[in-house]
Amino acid sequence: MGGYIGAVDQGTTSSRFIIFDAAGRIVAMDQKEHRQIFPQPGYVEHDPVEIWENTQEVIAGALRKAGISGADLAALGITNQRETVVVWDRRTGRPYYNAIVWQCTRTRDICEELIKDGGPDRFRSVTGLPVATYFSGPKIKWILDHVPEARRAAEAGEALFGTMESWIIWQLTGGPRGGAHVTDVTNASRTMLMDLKTLAWDQNILDVLGIPRQGLPRIVPSSDRASWGPTMEDGPLGARVPVCGALGDQQAALVGQACFEPGEAKNTYGTGCFLLLNTGTTPIPSRHGLITTLAYQLGNNDPVYCLEGSVAIAGALVQWVRDNLGLIKAAPEIERLAMHAEDNGGVYIVPAFSGLFAPYWRSDARGAIVGLTRYANKNHIARAVLEACAYQTKDIVEAMNKDSGVELKKLKVDGGMVHNELLMQFQADILDVPVIRPVVSETTCLGAAYAAGLAVGFWRDTKELCRNWAVDRTWEPLMAAAVRDAGYRGWKKAVERTLDWVE
Ligand code: G3P
Repeated sequence: MGGYIGAVDQGTTSSRFIIFDAAGRIVAMDQKEHRQIFPQPGYVEHDPVEIWENTQEVIAGALRKAGISGADLAALGITNQRETVVVWDRRTGRPYYNAIVWQCTRTRDICEELIKDGGPDRFRSVTGLPVATYFSGPKIKWILDHVPEARRAAEAGEALFGTMESWIIWQLTGGPRGGAHVTDVTNASRTMLMDLKTLAWDQNILDVLGIPRQGLPRIVPSSDRASWGPTMEDGPLGARVPVCGALGDQQAALVGQACFEPGEAKNTYGTGCFLLLNTGTTPIPSRHGLITTLAYQLGNNDPVYCLEGSVAIAGALVQWVRDNLGLIKAAPEIERLAMHAEDNGGVYIVPAFSGLFAPYWRSDARGAIVGLTRYANKNHIARAVLEACAYQTKDIVEAMNKDSGVELKKLKVDGGMVHNELLMQFQADILDVPVIRPVVSETTCLGAAYAAGLAVGFWRDTKELCRNWAVDRTWEPLMAAAVRDAGYRGWKKAVERTLDWVE
C-alpha cells in the first residue's frame, strides 16, 4: 500500500489537491482558482470544464511538490462545494450548460411555485430541507427547462446529472469510456431529492420536479472500497488509485475535526459559514430553521446525521469588499483595517447577497449596510464585515440550542478565516463560549482523506483519527454581557431591514 492519501477539494472559489501522511499532516498542496461567472444579479455559474482542467493541474502540481507519483497514494478522497450541479453528455463529457452554483438564486420562481402548493416545508419530512434556491433539485430542473437539448438527452438517457464530486469522479474514473456515475449520501442529501431515511431518490419529488431518474447518480456511502473504482492510468494521477471516499465539504470538515460523537460540532468559515452538529444515527427534525442532513456513512455502518446551520456569505463578503469596493487589496488586510476601530461605530452589514439562508430562509432578502453616520469610516465597515460572520454564526447557535435542547459549550472552528484573530475573539465574545482552532485547519481535505484512508485500512478506525486531532489555539470569551446583548440586538434590527426587499 502507498504511504500517503490524496484528497481533492473542489471548492466554490478554487480546486485543491492535498497529500497527507499517516499522522494526518500535510505533505504537499497545490491550488488554483476558477472564474466566478455572474451573468446577472443573483446568478452565479462556474465552467465545469475549467474546473476539471484545474483539478488535473493541481493533482499534478501537488505530486510534483511532494516528489512522489500517483502510485504512492494508497487511496484518493474527494470533497466538494455542495449543491452546485452539472448536467453533461455521457457520450462526450460535454456539459449542456455551465454549473449552477449553490449561491445562485435563479430558481426563485421554481421554488415559489413549489411553495404555493404545500408551503416551504412540503418536502422537509422526507428530505430534511426547506424548499429554497440553495438546493440542487430545482437547479437541475432549471437546466432541463431552459436547455431543450438537455431535456431531450435526459429523457433519452444520454444526459448525466451530478454535484461537483460526481462530475470529477466520473472524469477521473474514465469519463466517456465508462466513468463511475455516483454520489455519496452527504452530497445526495443536499439535492432535496433524496429520502433521508431510505437513502434513495424519492420518486414523488422527482415527479413533481420533472427530473428523469435515469440521469441521477447511484447513491453510495461516504467511505467505501468498492463504490467508485480506480482512477485511469492515463489521467492526472498516472496510476490506478482507488477512489474510496467522498463527502460534501462541510461534512468532510466535520470528519476532519473528528466530531464523531453525538453533540460534537464544528463551524467552517469559508465562502459561506456552516455549523454542523453530529446528532448520531437518528435524523432530528429542526423546528428553528436549521436543516437535517447526512453527516457521513462509513462503509456499511449506519448513516450518521447532523443538524446544520448554513450561512451563504462569510469569506465571500471579504472578497466582495476587495473586488467590488476596492477597500482592500488582499483579504488579510481586512483585519488590519478593523483593528483601527474600537467597535463597529453602530454600523452593521447583512450580506444577504443570495437571500438569507438559515435560520431565516428568505430568498427575498438582499444585503444592507445600516447604521451609517458621518462618523463611520472604512475601519468601521471592515469591522462590520468581520462581525457579520460572527453574528450570523450566533443566529445559528441560538437555533441549534433550541433545536437540540442542549447549550453548545465550545465551538471547534476551521476554514480560511480562523487565522483572523479579531474575528475569532469576537466570535468567542458574542457566543460566550470558547472557540477552538485545531493544528490542522485544512479539515475539509483532511476529512476526505480520512474517509478514503479508513476504507483501505490506512487508518484503523475513528479512534485513531481522534488521536490525530490537537488544539492549536483557544479564544476565551471576554465581553461583558450587556455589551454582547446590545450588539446582538443591533444585528437583529439590521437583519429586519433586509427582508421583503425583492418584489
Ligand atoms: O453548501 C455550500 C458549501 O458546501 C460551500 O462551501 O467552503 O465553498 O464555503 P465553501
